[in-house]
Amino acid sequence: MKALVIQSAFGLENLAFEERPDPVPGPGQVLVKVCAASLNYRDLLIAKGVYNPKLKMPRVLGSDGAGKVVGIGEGVTKFAIGDRVAGCFMQNWVSGPISDAAAKSTLGGDRDGMLAEKVVLQEEGLVSIPGALTFEEAATLPCAAVTAWNALTGGGCGPGRTVLLQGTGGVSIFALQFAKALGARVLITSGHDEKLARAIEMGATTGTNYRTNPAWDKWAREQTDGVGVDIVIEVGGAGTLDSSAKAVRLGGHIALIGVLSGVGTFNPISILMKAVRLQGVFVGSRAMFEDMNRLIAGEGITPVIDRVFPFAEAPAAFKHLESGSHFGKVVVTV
Ligand SMILES: NC(=O)c1ccc[n+]([C@@H]2O[C@H](COP(=O)([O-])OP(=O)(O)OC[C@H]3O[C@@H](n4cnc5c(N)ncnc54)[C@H](OP(=O)(O)O)[C@@H]3O)[C@@H](O)[C@H]2O)c1
Repeated sequence: MKALVIQSAFGLENLAFEERPDPVPGPGQVLVKVCAASLNYRDLLIAKGVYNPKLKMPRVLGSDGAGKVVGIGEGVTKFAIGDRVAGCFMQNWVSGPISDAAAKSTLGGDRDGMLAEKVVLQEEGLVSIPGALTFEEAATLPCAAVTAWNALTGGGCGPGRTVLLQGTGGVSIFALQFAKALGARVLITSGHDEKLARAIEMGATTGTNYRTNPAWDKWAREQTDGVGVDIVIEVGGAGTLDSSAKAVRLGGHIALIGVLSGVGTFNPISILMKAVRLQGVFVGSRAMFEDMNRLIAGEGITPVIDRVFPFAEAPAAFKHLESGSHFGKVVVTV
């Protein structure tokens, strides 16, 4: 079977297809024929050697994928041949608080990932996918969607709350869909006016362009009568955190998720003077994934796919994600 690997050196130019023997499921394991995978910003960082310069190579890339069960090992009870499943980002985080073992069990990082024709996963590291979703749609869920879900529910998202989203990438567009479904009001920033218009069509109340309006923190406070937003989904990182701390209300919540804006300096004074809760988010557990899937099924939420690439063009999919021109998720059919 074919797998997309980072073989012996970092860099998108070193992505390569490798022929590997079909994996065989051992006790408690499930063999999945991968039908689709989706890309995350993390996959770019991993391929470039920024995420983990000590990554063991060759490594099959991709934390996210969905497919069909085609084999089961001894003792497997949760899944049967033909089931439609997705892998969990962390194979060892079933529920409860995150553990060391969970944090070191990530697909496409600590372990070989989903950009392969067949994978073997522990049955604890799989979820059933919502019946109404295609494999392409379900493949978008394990990282970006679970992260958005964990960040919003951890921040107390619900009716009467205002959530501020940064950009229109995978995490932010899922956060828009979930925050709306949970009854919250959504403000969004983007570097592109046409993407803002699309986010507003999807239910965001209003938006601003962070390139032409660098004072988006002031704008966010104005949208909340000077109070500030309840929750910030902080995907920018060091370069946006200062502004997020200004945009959030007294006693509000910042879910610290991403590093898109690169390096920057951060002054912690507003965090403490405003008694803000600053919560690091590392994707989420299988239990969170399952809770989120119930909302997706119940509310009829469809993941927003920007573009689908055939497996043979997976390296071009990485380039497309790198360009930042996407809205929502970039998918690869396998
Ligand atoms: N902690 C975790 O568990 C976790 C999980 C998932 C993702 N992440 C991180 O979260 C971030 C987003 O991930 P993703 O997969 O959603 O990425 P993505 O799909 O590649 O999103 C990129 C988009 O973010 C926007 N953006 C870029 N620079 C920005 C800036 N300075 N300020 C505001 N928006 C900016 C752009 O949207 P516009 O074109 O609209 O401006 C860009 O298209 C990444 O840093 C990723 O590593 C962390």
